[in-house]
Amino acid sequence: MTTSISHAQEILQDTRPPLRREQFNRLADLIYDLAGIRFQENKAYFLASKINQRVEALGLQDYDDYWNFLNSVSGRTEYGHLMDAVTINETFFFRNQPQLEKLETDILQPMFTKARSDNRNTLRYWSCACSTGDEIYTLALQLLSMDGAQGLNHELVGTDINRDVVAIGRKANYRPYAVRNVPPALLQRYFAEDKVAQTFQLSDDVKKMVNLMEMNLLDGNRIKSMGKFDIIICRNVLIYFDDESKDKVMQNLYDVLNDDGVLILGHADDIYNQRHLFKLDRERSAVLAYQKQPPGTPKLNV
Ligand SMILES: C[S@@+](CC[C@H](N)C(=O)[O-])C[C@H]1O[C@@H](n2cnc3c(N)ncnc32)[C@H](O)[C@@H]1O
Repeated sequence: MTTSISHAQEILQDTRPPLRREQFNRLADLIYDLAGIRFQENKAYFLASKINQRVEALGLQDYDDYWNFLNSVSGRTEYGHLMDAVTINETFFFRNQPQLEKLETDILQPMFTKARSDNRNTLRYWSCACSTGDEIYTLALQLLSMDGAQGLNHELVGTDINRDVVAIGRKANYRPYAVRNVPPALLQRYFAEDKVAQTFQLSDDVKKMVNLMEMNLLDGNRIKSMGKFDIIICRNVLIYFDDESKDKVMQNLYDVLNDDGVLILGHADDIYNQRHLFKLDRERSAVLAYQKQPPGTPKLNV
């Protein structure tokens, strides 16, 4: 006897407990709608394991039970937990040092000089997918140690869609792995090591420079409510988005970047199809610095 199994009922490879294609598709579509993150089938094993953790945490039976819960009235509160579960939060202090060194010399120093000549006292910085805060605290440490940064008011904001990582960032207690690239003098001065717990606690002097909060990059209204920024750092997050999501996110960043502001991307973050919004600053390409295009620049055919 041959059993026929429809395409939608196929079990996806390496998923435990087994996840059917139709179950995967509806979960992947919901995550896409909520966060812009597009899961491909080759990551089904990851999604299955993360969803199963939520199934167990909620005392539910299986994926279908979880799907029904998500679609119930009380299930709305689960959306945040779902995002906390499925986002990938890899980060560490002083990630990509050569880029950060160039950021100081090629972007920050000239920006301080210009701010002074324009009689501007406050500069604003946003790390828009900052995970546990390492990226925006790194910038705070750079500002604390840079010649020329003193005497100006630096407002730093770090945001992420994942509430768990934002909470970790607020505590600012890090494992040795996260701080391994911090220059020794800064580590000594701004972190208290707990040798027994093997952690490094960031000092209040640095913590108080930074405002950390939960924020979805698709939420244009909330993003606009933060006001304008001189520098936006958006590293290692666009890799999770398709072009449609990148269109939305890049428009949201465009709206809150000052006209002479700078967008900093990561090396794997590609915005070729959003070049009507931002263009690479070729003279400062080592920083992956992008400038705003004039408003109304037409979107080019892909
Ligand atoms: C790989 S981490 C990058 C952290 C940091 N920027 C770095 O380069 O070290 C990507 C972060 O993007 C966040 N993220 C994913 N989708 C998001 C969204 N729609 N809105 C805001 N943050 C998002 C994730 O929660 C995760 O913490």
